[in-house]
Amino acid sequence: MSIRKIYKYPDPVLRKKAATVTSFDEKLEEIISDMAQTMYDAPGIGLAAPQIGQSIRLIVVDITEEPDDEKKYMTMINPEISIHTGNQLDEEGCLSVPELTANVKRYKEITVSYQDTKGDSRELSAENRFAVVLQHEIDHLNGVLFLDHLSSLKRGLYKKKVKKWLAEK
Ligand code: NI
Repeated sequence: MSIRKIYKYPDPVLRKKAATVTSFDEKLEEIISDMAQTMYDAPGIGLAAPQIGQSIRLIVVDITEEPDDEKKYMTMINPEISIHTGNQLDEEGCLSVPELTANVKRYKEITVSYQDTKGDSRELSAENRFAVVLQHEIDHLNGVLFLDHLSSLKRGLYKKKVKKWLAEK
């Protein structure tokens, strides 16, 4: 297990449509455990494979219930939102988009079909905050960042800030 580098905006890997996972092998398991370790180290509550430079359709999400509990995460491979209802507004941030949080409009309830680490098909329904995290991570697999859901004014301000950081490096 190792902690991987988290790719940050505007790295092009974050903008690619990630490839479908077809081999459920040891290499995949290694990426998954590295992703979990990288997520908890950051710390974050969800991570998509493109964020560690792997352009494949894979996400891990934290499902630890109480702060003192042992960390528990869930892996979703090739996840797709099959059903959605309602809307909600909640604050989001992203390990690949440093120093920005903003309210984003998302579906209130979703059903996600996905494959588990063995390649078996599964389905999960989620609502509220957990549904937000899943929508955010699934967006990453399509090259979409939470930034893209903001007004062009807010997005423009952030882009300017990043340009300045990069110029100062
Ligand atoms: Ni993110």
